[in-house]
Amino acid sequence: ENLAQCPFRGTRVGGAMGKSPQLDDWWPNRLQVELLHQEQPVANPLSDENYKEAFNKIDLQELKKDIKAMLVDSKDWWPADYNNYGPQMIRMAWHSAGTYRIADGRGGAGQALQRFGPINSWWDNGNIDKSRRLLWPIKQKYGASLSWADLIVLTGNCALEIMNFPTFGFGGGRRDAWEPDRSTYWGPEFWNGKPFKESKVGEYYDGHPEEMVTQNLRWKGEPSDPNRDLENPLAATHQALIYVNPEGPGGNGEPKDSAMAIRESFKRMAMNDEETVALIAGGHAFGKSHGMASADKIGPAPEAAPMQAMGMGWQNSEGTGFGKYTMTNGIEGSWTPDPTSWDNNYLINLFKFEWEKTESPAGAIQWTPKDPNAPKTPDAHEEGKMNDLMMMTSDIALKVDPAYNEICQKFLNDFEYFTNAFSKAWYKLTHRDMGPKDRYLGPEVPEEDLIWQDPVPKRDFDLIEEAEITSLKQNILDSGLSVSALVSAAWSSAAIYRDSDKRGGANGARIALEPQNNWDLNRPDELNKVLSTLRSIKDDFNGNQSGNKRVSLADLVVLGGCAAIEKASKDGGFDVNVPFTPGRTDAIAEQTDVESFDWLKPVSDGFKNYHNDKVGYNIPAERIFLDRAQLLTLNAPEWTVLTAGLRVLDQNFDHSKHGVFTDRPGTLSTDFFKVLLSMDYEWVPQNDREMLFDIRDRETGNIKYTATRCDLIFGSNAQLRNIAEVYGADDGKERFIKDFVKAWDKVMMLDRYDVKDD
Ligand code: HEM
Repeated sequence: ENLAQCPFRGTRVGGAMGKSPQLDDWWPNRLQVELLHQEQPVANPLSDENYKEAFNKIDLQELKKDIKAMLVDSKDWWPADYNNYGPQMIRMAWHSAGTYRIADGRGGAGQALQRFGPINSWWDNGNIDKSRRLLWPIKQKYGASLSWADLIVLTGNCALEIMNFPTFGFGGGRRDAWEPDRSTYWGPEFWNGKPFKESKVGEYYDGHPEEMVTQNLRWKGEPSDPNRDLENPLAATHQALIYVNPEGPGGNGEPKDSAMAIRESFKRMAMNDEETVALIAGGHAFGKSHGMASADKIGPAPEAAPMQAMGMGWQNSEGTGFGKYTMTNGIEGSWTPDPTSWDNNYLINLFKFEWEKTESPAGAIQWTPKDPNAPKTPDAHEEGKMNDLMMMTSDIALKVDPAYNEICQKFLNDFEYFTNAFSKAWYKLTHRDMGPKDRYLGPEVPEEDLIWQDPVPKRDFDLIEEAEITSLKQNILDSGLSVSALVSAAWSSAAIYRDSDKRGGANGARIALEPQNNWDLNRPDELNKVLSTLRSIKDDFNGNQSGNKRVSLADLVVLGGCAAIEKASKDGGFDVNVPFTPGRTDAIAEQTDVESFDWLKPVSDGFKNYHNDKVGYNIPAERIFLDRAQLLTLNAPEWTVLTAGLRVLDQNFDHSKHGVFTDRPGTLSTDFFKVLLSMDYEWVPQNDREMLFDIRDRETGNIKYTATRCDLIFGSNAQLRNIAEVYGADDGKERFIKDFVKAWDKVMMLDRYDVKDD
């Protein structure tokens, strides 16, 4: 009877905050606009800290000394293999970085998302919870001055160094996340927190019933079928794995199939064949795999573990559960006779011996040398005991694949070359998602620029000031370029930025280089006219300077946008000053990796009503639009004002009229909202696809406008509609201009790590 009064009375369905069913359970297709509002400063207890200053105060050598001492200080609660935590820390750092995928730039080591679900509980990250817990005393000592993300990568470097491997460099500057990331799609399978071996069969959501789907990588028919297809944008072939299954695709034990999966998967992570071989052969020079207990002895992953586990998972009930009983992946053994020092024995033995398929104590497929006289490797815990060498199916893949084999031969013959290749590839792996080099902190940042860093030249000229900015804006407007063309050039150059890996943006003026200058969504003909006019304005201006003041093309592209928006706003009755921060420089083609830049091209872009049907996306366009807004770090009001503004400024990639709800395109007005919110119209899909809509006058039945899903979402989604109402109201006009200009400037400045703090 008292129970009835308790607000959390524990009814059948839970009855407490956050328990299902919630909004998304009832309406799984609603657009989750709230995904734009993750990572709020309120969730970050360190939001008042300047990380750059704090990190720069650390004595990096002292910190590295602390880490290196920890690496050889074995603790009884998790005794180190070979009395050296180095190998397990390399795996931790690699798994932290290895979630990166180039298609959307998400994943990677940048925010230490490994600390949160789902990643902290992926089967592939088994026992990495122990590695991080071992690091806690270091984290505790340095506190706010050292992010987990930096500590994890730096520890990987220290581990390599104590085992005599020369690292290429280290840049700090990674900012930790403070909550799980809900915006990243990791794959279609349901994963229930049980070991992968138990959960992989039959417990996933299978969106493609006609195909064999045990993984993100799917085949029609046999595993070696060339129709295999790894779903975009994923890089891992199985949800809850970092890349590929070590036992071959679907655990089939086929090295050839494994090679195909590795190639596809590493390509998605922006690694070529040589980098791939360097990473795998380099990484597996160290440490061992763990499979001394069967999977049914292993408890739930961290997110599902009981309270008393205090955030750790995979409690192992075999023996002590650690040391010689350790069970992580299921495969057992080491690749080399000396797993704690850098040498070429991994490749030497892989090629010198024939390997045969065997089974680990945990029942996993692995490979053992056929030759009984092959070298042995010392047991990680029992003094004097020697074990057989081990290879995984994914290691044998390097031998059976002709292209990988050739690279292995090169590495075998030239250990120094191999060392250098692994060193560079490790640096790329762990820094790939950091963005411009301006973000890198500390004394170990290499001088050398690398092509994957999308380098821009250092500024070697003085900045233009107010008077020059004003006259340049006038010159641009006087040149006869239209508002629409100028805005399109500026927006196109800045808005391919993505915060996931901090690539893209206006700096470097890569809008004037291949491939961006020819992307169909950038209106290439019009764009190249704008660029040639701006170039001549630039040349005139720079040629007339007696001092060292210069303006770059990159700056002029952005300034052209500012001038155009000021004009468009004035035409609508409001005088505004659009902020402008000079200092961008112009990159050259040699500094631009065309293939890597092509990944930045949106497959669909709601800001320009660009919807590429050929890609065959089954995802509604507005969902990809939301994704783009999230990559631009926009909040819902910013997303709304920018879209509305771009529509009335005639920014559709093909100058189509979809969503251009105005009779005065080129004027910055709230007309978009007026039509969107009006009950004078009805909206009628043009066909079953419900991509394009006619907007009819209810009275006359005449088609007044047309629109796409990416226009109407601002009127149909409850959260966006409420925002639209603010700007569509009679007092919303000035607010709209102000908010549009602010959001515009934010986008123009997204990549300016040369002048802003993260
Ligand atoms: C260990 C798979 C690539 C570094 C392991 C383990 C597996 C595995 C199953 C054993 C985990 C355990 O039971 O403890 C793979 C696969 C790869 C790959 C399938 C790609 C095809 C890499 C790369 C690196 C790396 C690129 C680093 C550059 C390591 C290290 C260990 C390890 C150092 C030993 C960890 C320890 O001693 O505790 N790998 N790996 N691996 N891996 Fe990889």
